[in-house]
Amino acid sequence: MKVGVIGQGYVGLTISAFAGEFYSVVGLDNNQKVVDQLNKGVSHIEGVESLVLQKWIQAGRFHATKSASELSDVDIIVIALPTPLTEDRQPDLTFIDAACKSIGENVQKPILIINESTSFPGTLRKYIKPAIEKYSKNQVEHMYAISPERVDPGRGDYNQKNTPRLYAGLTPEASEKTRDFYSKFCDEMVEVSSPEVAEAAKLFENTFRQVNIALVNEFAQIANALGISVYETLDAADTKPYGFMKFTPSAGVGGHCIPVDPTYLAAVAEEHGAPATFIRRANEVNLEMSKYVVDRVEADNGGNLQGKSVLVIGLAYKPNVADVRETAAELVIDHLRDRGAVVSWHDEVVGTWHGESSAQLSGADIAVVITKHDVVSERDILASAPYVFDTTGKVAGAKGF
Ligand SMILES: NC(=O)c1ccc[n+]([C@@H]2O[C@H](COP(=O)([O-])OP(=O)(O)OC[C@H]3O[C@@H](n4cnc5c(N)ncnc54)[C@H](O)[C@@H]3O)[C@@H](O)[C@H]2O)c1
Repeated sequence: MKVGVIGQGYVGLTISAFAGEFYSVVGLDNNQKVVDQLNKGVSHIEGVESLVLQKWIQAGRFHATKSASELSDVDIIVIALPTPLTEDRQPDLTFIDAACKSIGENVQKPILIINESTSFPGTLRKYIKPAIEKYSKNQVEHMYAISPERVDPGRGDYNQKNTPRLYAGLTPEASEKTRDFYSKFCDEMVEVSSPEVAEAAKLFENTFRQVNIALVNEFAQIANALGISVYETLDAADTKPYGFMKFTPSAGVGGHCIPVDPTYLAAVAEEHGAPATFIRRANEVNLEMSKYVVDRVEADNGGNLQGKSVLVIGLAYKPNVADVRETAAELVIDHLRDRGAVVSWHDEVVGTWHGESSAQLSGADIAVVITKHDVVSERDILASAPYVFDTTGKVAGAKGF
């Protein structure tokens, strides 16, 4: 059985690495650098071991390519491509469209096509299937399914194997074949009644997180105004054994999922005349946190940041990964620079970003911790500046929410 995985990023490479144990995998990616690196057995994704890739390469069960024509003899295709927002914050399916074109133009026999990319309900049925048919010369009757990816890169306790996998096909045969494909390397398969339910469930999971993060971010501001500790209050609430789930405040949400996916849900809701007020407001509250953090830092430093050297610690959107997509650190840096601060940043996991390099973890007037990687010690953070504002709640002794 030969599997083509379109997109070799966080999701696609993860699935390739798991599938390589049981199938012959061809990883399609239009980034030549990624392709070359993967063919040398070097992983660029946290959580995917280079050694595993090397094992599959040596066994002749994995290679990467830029050439979509290599899809012509696969039995299953998994689509794992970005689903970002357009400039006016609408769902942007141009990557998915490109995948449909690659499939339509190159696959001439009926196969199973599974979408793992996150998108709004109806994407598989009303967008992917018609697009592939539009690009296909011979009107091939493929099977279609959705199985949204839930991977959390950098996470140790839950992975591809032990995270239950949702799935649904457009036909019972597509569902059955999808279950057969994943059950080799996923412990629990959860079938739902339609692709739309699976697509919506994925969006709702991330919307749930975005709304709860916004709620706790708003509560952090309330607690500060009341002069009580947000962390102690949350710990107190968390002693309730039911009906409460603890979220912690932050400078905002980042990554490709939480700041983006809820907007897909809001867009489709509004298109159908349904309200999406929580979703829209949660997004705003989380975006406004960066300004709130800088306001607090400014207020603690004589109400003026002009000419002060500020070190932003942790550029990645979450600990122990190099992913800077939609990171709140960028908004914090922008606000600091707008107020005249001289900003540098320290993040050895990220290394370089926007032509700048990670600075020394020392010698600043002010340090603001956005993300705390395990490799950075609390002691070094506290020694980096006379004033440290910590948005993570992990640096005892620093100022914070
Ligand atoms: N990253 C996560 O933690 C995560 C978790 C769950 C779901 N998702 C969803 O999975 C999807 C993929 O996200 P990701 O994080 O893996 O993206 P990514 O940016 O890490 O990877 C996408 C890859 O696709 C390649 N690519 C772009 N256009 C291509 C094309 N036309 N043909 C071939 N390759 C192409 C890029 O070069 C890149 O390597 C998105 O819908 C995302 O919302 C992501």
